[in-house]
Amino acid sequence: MLILSQLLMALITYPCLLRSAATRNLSDEERLLINLFKDYNPSARPVIDSANTVTVDIQFSLMHIKDLDVRSQVFTTTGLLIVEWIDERLVWNSTKFNNASDMIVEADRLWRPEFAVINGAEKLYEDYKAFRASISSIGQVHWEPGGVFKTMCEIDITYYPFDEQVCALVFGAWSYHTSKMNLTTSTSVVNLDSYKTNGEWEIFTTSAVRNEFNYECCPNEKFSNVEFKVYLRRRHTFYVLNVILPSIMTSVLLLSVFFCTPNQKVQIGVVVLLSFRIFLLNVAGNIPKTSDHIPLLGIYLTVTMAITTLSMVLTVFVLNLHYISDRPVPSWAKTLIIDYMGRCMCMSSYKKDKRRSTVNGITLEKIGERIARHTMEEEGFIKDSEEDFSADWKRMAEVFDRLFFWFFLTAILITTLILFHPLTKACMKLNCATTKT
Ligand SMILES: *[C@@H]1O[C@H](CO)[C@@H](O)[C@H](O)[C@H]1NC(C)=O
Ligand SMILES: *[C@@H]1O[C@H](CO)[C@@H](O)[C@H](O)[C@H]1NC(C)=O
Ligand SMILES: *[C@@H]1O[C@H](CO)[C@@H](O)[C@H](O)[C@H]1NC(C)=O
Ligand SMILES: *[C@@H]1O[C@H](CO)[C@@H](O)[C@H](O)[C@H]1NC(C)=O
Repeated sequence: MLILSQLLMALITYPCLLRSAATRNLSDEERLLINLFKDYNPSARPVIDSANTVTVDIQFSLMHIKDLDVRSQVFTTTGLLIVEWIDERLVWNSTKFNNASDMIVEADRLWRPEFAVINGAEKLYEDYKAFRASISSIGQVHWEPGGVFKTMCEIDITYYPFDEQVCALVFGAWSYHTSKMNLTTSTSVVNLDSYKTNGEWEIFTTSAVRNEFNYECCPNEKFSNVEFKVYLRRRHTFYVLNVILPSIMTSVLLLSVFFCTPNQKVQIGVVVLLSFRIFLLNVAGNIPKTSDHIPLLGIYLTVTMAITTLSMVLTVFVLNLHYISDRPVPSWAKTLIIDYMGRCMCMSSYKKDKRRSTVNGITLEKIGERIARHTMEEEGFIKDSEEDFSADWKRMAEVFDRLFFWFFLTAILITTLILFHPLTKACMKLNCATTKT
């Protein structure tokens, strides 16, 4: 009985339900969609007269630079393409649809312009279907597909870390030639409205250029693409603090080797060499590993290392001079090196007699006057003649030390200036850029 009555109720109410569903008024957007897409074929170009050209305006909005890989020369960015075109089939009278003048639709319902990342490093085509498009009653379509773009970028690291790079993103059509689909851009810059700054690279200018060209296959058909260039400058504070200043300081420390006593020479020399080695190990990780362009910084470090090694060898030479005592300095060396070169380098004049007398004075003070004076004089005489030789050799070592100091100071200054030359150039450019903006 119960089942029967339920069945009866269902039979009575069912047509009512059916009728109310059928009579539900469609929303304005539903009516509009049915109207617009009744006979719409997304493969056909959006022109009613097929002789017409579809003009597609394309802009690039850079959001973030993820990476610029120096070794693989890949520029990775996140960005949006702002694409606009007119679809002549998507025009409606907005007063008929409750003043609905625009609408958002899935992009795969529409005809979409074809463009590929021409200089892409991995994928040429991206799947942009998930991005919806906005259409307006005059047939204008606004579409902002985006993603991560990996493009090839030729990198020149000669002036690393004061280098500037130009990386481009080229968007173009493979299949449509210009008479069917004309790819253009209405701006001359990359849109940086939603750009998040990168820690390593600073954008100093951008450009957007439309190119038209022929492929060899089809000389009669023109193709167009749009090239978005980003001009990057490396932020070099990190490298100046961590690479360049320490290497200059180590070079300066090296100079102190020429101003210390023979015993300290070896200690300081070893400390300088070791610290240089540790420092080089640290730096090697920061320098781009490529052989296409050798960075000036790498050359600088190699030259400084060579200077250090040479200075160590010369220090050994000076040490050897210092400890000679068994033979006299050749007279030509005495006049040329001790007298002439010593005076050239403004070293205080060399007084042999004074030094000997003070040595004698100290020995005389220390030792009792009356005890074996005669023998002491004899011994003193022998020592005097030995000291005479070694004093000359020591003087010669000092002159060489001073000579090498000036030599290495000049070498370090020249190499440092050569390295820093591009820095001054970069600074001047930076000033120009800031005054312009
Ligand atoms: C459907 O639209 C008609 C007029 O167009 C209106 O009279 C009717 O009330 C509407 N029905 C509903 C359920 O809104
Ligand atoms: C739009 O529709 C309204 C009402 O149907 C009509 O009066 C008007 O002329 C139409 N406008 C155009 C541009 O066709
Ligand atoms: C549509 O816009 C016109 C003028 O802008 C206005 O007069 C009319 O009332 C609007 N219609 C609706 C349904 O909002
Ligand atoms: C394409 O657009 C460019 C500039 O926007 C224009 O100079 C060129 O004539 C157009 N080409 C065609 C075939 O419409």
